[in-house]
Amino acid sequence: MSKTSNQMWGGRFADQPDAIMEAINASIGFDKRLAAQDIAGSRAHAAMLAATGIISDSDAEAIREGLLTVLSEIEGGSFEFSTALEDIHMNVEARLKAVIGEPAGRLHTGRSRNDQVATDFRLWVRDQIDEAEGSLTRLIHALLAQAEAGAEWVMPGFTHLQTAQPVTWGHHMMAYVEMFGRDLSRVRDARKRMNESPLGAAALAGTGFPIDRHMTAQALGFDAPMANSLDAVSARDFALEFLSVASISAMHLSRFAEELVIWSSAQFRFVTLSDRFSTGSSIMPQKKNPDAAELIRAKIGRIFGANVALMMVMKGLPLAYSKDMQEDKEQVFDAADNWLLALAAMEGMVRDMTANVANLEKAASAGFSTATDLADWLVRETGLPFREAHHVTGALVALAEKTGRDLPDLTLDEMQAVHGNITASVYDVLGVHNSVASRRSYGGTAPDRVREQIARWKEAL
Ligand code: ARG
Repeated sequence: MSKTSNQMWGGRFADQPDAIMEAINASIGFDKRLAAQDIAGSRAHAAMLAATGIISDSDAEAIREGLLTVLSEIEGGSFEFSTALEDIHMNVEARLKAVIGEPAGRLHTGRSRNDQVATDFRLWVRDQIDEAEGSLTRLIHALLAQAEAGAEWVMPGFTHLQTAQPVTWGHHMMAYVEMFGRDLSRVRDARKRMNESPLGAAALAGTGFPIDRHMTAQALGFDAPMANSLDAVSARDFALEFLSVASISAMHLSRFAEELVIWSSAQFRFVTLSDRFSTGSSIMPQKKNPDAAELIRAKIGRIFGANVALMMVMKGLPLAYSKDMQEDKEQVFDAADNWLLALAAMEGMVRDMTANVANLEKAASAGFSTATDLADWLVRETGLPFREAHHVTGALVALAEKTGRDLPDLTLDEMQAVHGNITASVYDVLGVHNSVASRRSYGGTAPDRVREQIARWKEAL
């Protein structure tokens, strides 16, 4: 082997790569994040090679100990990563050789970097899924606590961001519990589907060595080895599924973040965010800004961007491995980091925020929010068809609006002038508390219904 050429494939090469080649080719700058997974995969592989008699027990033991040394060097920060060694796989193997000598050269028997990286990356994504499961669960608990505290507080429900009907605070919080609950079930689904081992697919076609892929799969916590070696080294849909689950969840986070930005404004004052999750202004002393919410709202951009970017990387690739696929990792790393951070920040904001109950109630009564209750009353009590009741109510709203009042401020005489059959009992349905209490249909906003859903979720978690 020439001294100047590559120590892994120097047999065929006489020259060193150009510096630009090294710069575009090396992935060690980012795939060092896969070190723990890479070493776990190698340990499983070496143990299997010994168990199947492909390498000796003493070589396997030397490899095992050597890998533990390398791992502690990496964890302790003393490991020197080399760009010339391209990626985490070759960095670890080269260091193993320096630590244990000759047996290190037997580790790569019946294996390729193609199945190695596919295995490492799956293990890494699986860890993120487990993290996300914990983060989503904690966020749901924070929302449940808010819902429980405010199962009866009334606030305006909006459509088109225009006052629609009164709802309860608890009901609004529980809407997000449902969304993040589906995100939770999506990460669990994704985990199940991705939890198969590519290890032992080798370069693309499998290997002639009598390896035991079931053994390595089990050692790494996979449910089974992947059934097709070409697919095993080429598939990145597990990463894409992770990114799409993260994107949907980031979209949910973003919608809630948007509401918190609006709710915490001086015009709304629905909530007060804690100092711990707010920032001030360097020039305007009165300011308290919802920066965490704004940043959470913005995270969807990079997370969904990662999803699109990896989709584009993969869409034109013939089977099996192409170096294009090295571009899969940074996207997923960045998306995972930011999704988990956004989930944690949202959990903190939700735990800390205070609802301004009196203000919510005042806002709930404004904007003729009980007009539908009035129309429903006309249907129930006077037998009017709903369409006509809608029309009569519209006339009453117009009258109130013209005279600068709310619906409950209209006198019975004024109401009867619009429709003769209206009686004083109509005033009962014009109050916001009666309005929400009456919406007892399954999934409705009535406090009883909301409490049922809180209990169901607590049980489920
Ligand atoms: N660093 C490479 C990657 O991340 C590892 C696989 C290299 N395989 C190869 N045939 N060059 O994809």
